[in-house]
Amino acid sequence: MLATTGAAAFTAPRPGRAEALVAQMTLAEKLGQLSILSADYAVTGPVVPTNVDADVRAGRVGSLFNLWGRDAVREAQRIAVEETRLGIPLFFGLDVIHGFRTVFPIPLAETSAFDPGLWAETATAAAREAAAAGIDLTFAPMLDVARDPRWGRMAEGPGEDPHVASAYATAKTRAWQEAGIAATAKHFVAYGASRAGRDYAATEVTPRTLAEVYLPPFRAAVDAGALALMPAFTDIDGVPLTADRTLLTGLLREQWGFDGVVISDYTAISELLKHGVAADIPEAAALALNAGTDIDMMSRAYERGLPEALDRGLTTMETVDAAVARILTLKERLGLLDDPYVRLSAADADLPATRAIARRAATTSIVLLRNRGGALPLPAAPGRLALVGPLADAAGEMLGPWAGAGRREEAVSVRAGLAAAFPGADISFAAGCPIDLPDESAIAAAAAVAAQADRVLLAIGEAAWMSGEAASRARIDLPGSQAALLDAVLATGTPTTILLFSGRPLVLPPAADRADALLACWFPGSEAGHAVADLLTGAVSPSAGTPVTWPRDVGQIPITYADRPGGRPEEPANKYSSKYLDLPNTPAFAFGHGLTYTRFALADPTVTRGDAIRVTTTLTNEGGRAGTATVFLFLRDPVARVARPTLELRRFTRVTLAPGASATVGFALLRSDLAYLDARLTPTVDPGEFEVHVGLSADPSGLRSARFTLG
Ligand code: BGC
Repeated sequence: MLATTGAAAFTAPRPGRAEALVAQMTLAEKLGQLSILSADYAVTGPVVPTNVDADVRAGRVGSLFNLWGRDAVREAQRIAVEETRLGIPLFFGLDVIHGFRTVFPIPLAETSAFDPGLWAETATAAAREAAAAGIDLTFAPMLDVARDPRWGRMAEGPGEDPHVASAYATAKTRAWQEAGIAATAKHFVAYGASRAGRDYAATEVTPRTLAEVYLPPFRAAVDAGALALMPAFTDIDGVPLTADRTLLTGLLREQWGFDGVVISDYTAISELLKHGVAADIPEAAALALNAGTDIDMMSRAYERGLPEALDRGLTTMETVDAAVARILTLKERLGLLDDPYVRLSAADADLPATRAIARRAATTSIVLLRNRGGALPLPAAPGRLALVGPLADAAGEMLGPWAGAGRREEAVSVRAGLAAAFPGADISFAAGCPIDLPDESAIAAAAAVAAQADRVLLAIGEAAWMSGEAASRARIDLPGSQAALLDAVLATGTPTTILLFSGRPLVLPPAADRADALLACWFPGSEAGHAVADLLTGAVSPSAGTPVTWPRDVGQIPITYADRPGGRPEEPANKYSSKYLDLPNTPAFAFGHGLTYTRFALADPTVTRGDAIRVTTTLTNEGGRAGTATVFLFLRDPVARVARPTLELRRFTRVTLAPGASATVGFALLRSDLAYLDARLTPTVDPGEFEVHVGLSADPSGLRSARFTLG
């Protein structure tokens, strides 16, 4: 099947054009096209010295990343076009993960909104800013399903659920590409399964889990027309993805019909030596190229190794030519073969409008985890407020990891946001301690500030550098002396709201349960302070839910709501059932959990059968304020030929209701939604009984259920 959706903004390739160009090229020129180098505006991996201008002039590179801005891009392009023999233009890539100059919430945060419309809107806005700075391709969306919050890259991705991740993949890929920027689905595949949450570690993943959990978002991106894909650094069963012909060519190109470009991850081809699957660079280069990796990022392994690999018969010139043709076709699709400067004439993005989207995205992404006694929103006259904690006046941290071309000085701190929202209010401030270093010297002074206030807003959590790539944490707790700060503040007895900033769910000390309210702010981006203030004042009602099951303890990890029951599912009174001696099985917060400032109730669903299976429920806003809830529809196949998870998400939708209002919420399930993979991994539908469960999260105690029989 040929992917077309989302490619409308691109030039249709002229048959034979790329191949004709390849026919004119020397081997050195071909190898240049196969290489992407970093221009070091941003450092996104181990520093490998490059002299970009000289490399471009010598034709040793076909594309650049980490370079942006019209003048810089124009000059690099000019060298490629005017000073190389064939004048083949470069393309320019960048990790625009959650924004360019305007930084949106981190992907894990945005996923909490469960809003594909928002996911598309922020991608479109980011694409406009990036295009105006000369960017042709983003290394996004990152689609790694993650169930281990020790892994720092959970921050960059769409959470634990394959259905949500697939919807995210579709929305992001389409939006990027409709805005004229090529999307790169990454990191293919199962990178999120890195053992023990340690970045770059080996993965253990069964063929079933690969097919059911890790592959679906990539399939969705390919179906949405993604023009590029990046293999993961990791291996599956000893085969590094960069060298995995079965997946990169067999599955991706031959079965799924992907006809874009595969770009290696940073130095991943030379790392094949360290994996222990290649003896030298020619072998590594041949393995990667033969597998289907077209572009070598930063290894220079193709340049150094392919001439000898060809001499040794490890690969063929046809294989080289096919990869070069795919890269030239990408450039053609991007319009660069017709106008190398095409994106440089894009209009500047509208900065205030983009900031407004960022503010709305952030308010929609922050999760109200707890709100005892309606502690939030704050009253219009909030009395004396104490803003305490190392993240309270930390504008730059608000951007989180992978902040693109984001400007720290343009980010709004919580302190600034609160001052703007409560003009003239009595707000005192104390950082209390650093984010990440043990230092208790200023805690007593901060507690004194808390003691004199009517309310404390305690901004604690991780520093931006503590999540993202190469940021695994064995203990996902409050770093530095923040637990001591929390104790000292709570000991004052002043009502306290915790504003938690992090790139993953954190395991908070038990004392945190004594705080009245807990907001998971993640990293909200450029508009952080305004967004937090919008929720605290009640100008906006929280509407997000956690897109990952929030563990109570590191010992529960990996954790997901979508487990199979096993033969001895947990029974409280039965020792010989699946549980811990020292911890409950239940998480701190279930997948999807998030409170609002109102109260929603769901009715038991009804099921009607026609062409589709229609599951209908009624959502009622029983509270006194307008609000938005996400309704989830889970399926359970109670008897199948292989055991199925106790819950599988099939649909989700956001519904906004006025106080007292009700709405009918209907979901149509197709027969394919009832399918599972049988023992041979072939999709199959068993006739018989099915259960559907609707809920506002995956917490079993809140689900409303119905059954139906498929004949
Ligand atoms: C990351 C990729 C990223 C690349 C380029 C790598 O270290 O794993 O996600 O796209 O660097 O910056």
